[in-house]
Amino acid sequence: MSARPVLASTREELAALLAEARAAGRPVGLVPTMGALHEGHASLVRTARERVGDGPVVVSIFVNPMQFGEGEDLDRYPRTLPEDLEVCAHEGVDVVFAPSVEEVYPGGDPQVTLDPGPLASVLEGRTRPGHYRGVLTVVAKLFGLVRPDVAVFGQKDYQQLVLIRRMVADLCLGVDVVGAETVREPDGLALSSRNRYLSESERLEALWLSRALRVAQENAAYGAAVALDEARAELRHGKQVALDYLVLTTPDLEELPDDVPPGTEARILVAARVGATRLIDNLPLVLGAEPGSTTSVAGTHTQNTHTRQGGS
Ligand code: PAF
Repeated sequence: MSARPVLASTREELAALLAEARAAGRPVGLVPTMGALHEGHASLVRTARERVGDGPVVVSIFVNPMQFGEGEDLDRYPRTLPEDLEVCAHEGVDVVFAPSVEEVYPGGDPQVTLDPGPLASVLEGRTRPGHYRGVLTVVAKLFGLVRPDVAVFGQKDYQQLVLIRRMVADLCLGVDVVGAETVREPDGLALSSRNRYLSESERLEALWLSRALRVAQENAAYGAAVALDEARAELRHGKQVALDYLVLTTPDLEELPDDVPPGTEARILVAARVGATRLIDNLPLVLGAEPGSTTSVAGTHTQNTHTRQGGS
């Protein structure tokens, strides 16, 4: 076990803790989270460490009210700071920034917020209006407070990752945004803070999501239509799976043209409710390429997204 990370809860404490590294020109790495840390977050921390070397790695833990809509699970969202600090200590995190809502939003709701553009009204954004405005606003604030050189986000929330990259590019924020691979259980289930809400039988049903993505990956060589059909067929096995969307897009979440040349990189994304829990997952695939050009859902893959719809 490494030394415990230093806990900062105010902007001043955070700035003081990072001053020395900044003065010495050491790069700062940031892993923004909402806590309830699991192995997926631990792997984001390891990626940040690889990028910044002996520079400080900061993990922010903040359940951001602005990204929760009415009827969403803000109050139910797990808050597990003592356990989170253990995970951070184990991973050699230098600073944990865990501010209060008042610290992040001192005058209440901000008057100036970030407009995430058209990409925020599709996929997750369709059922979660305002969600990405809240995400981008808080991430921009965290970037302002931490001033990281590198920030690491999971590919699991793929639309979020694409939007954050877009924000950094469009607003010239000068942060290197790294998308880390999704960490999975041995049976393929993508790690998520929400998995804890699944009953034993729901957890088994949830496996149809990653299976469907894997089947699409395995059939990508035969083209987009086949890959989607096979994934859709797989999802029909899930008797408790209420599908929201299954789509095949470009890696930037744009619509795939009807005819794509062999070797075209694409992304398949799925969202469904299993019982009361909404789950999302996604995988990269290469259309029309030799089978096996990306590895399976339980393994690693080579690349780092409107869209072809697979109906419910
Ligand atoms: O992915 C998350 O945990 C959150 O959306 C983030 C990026 C920490 C912003 O609150």
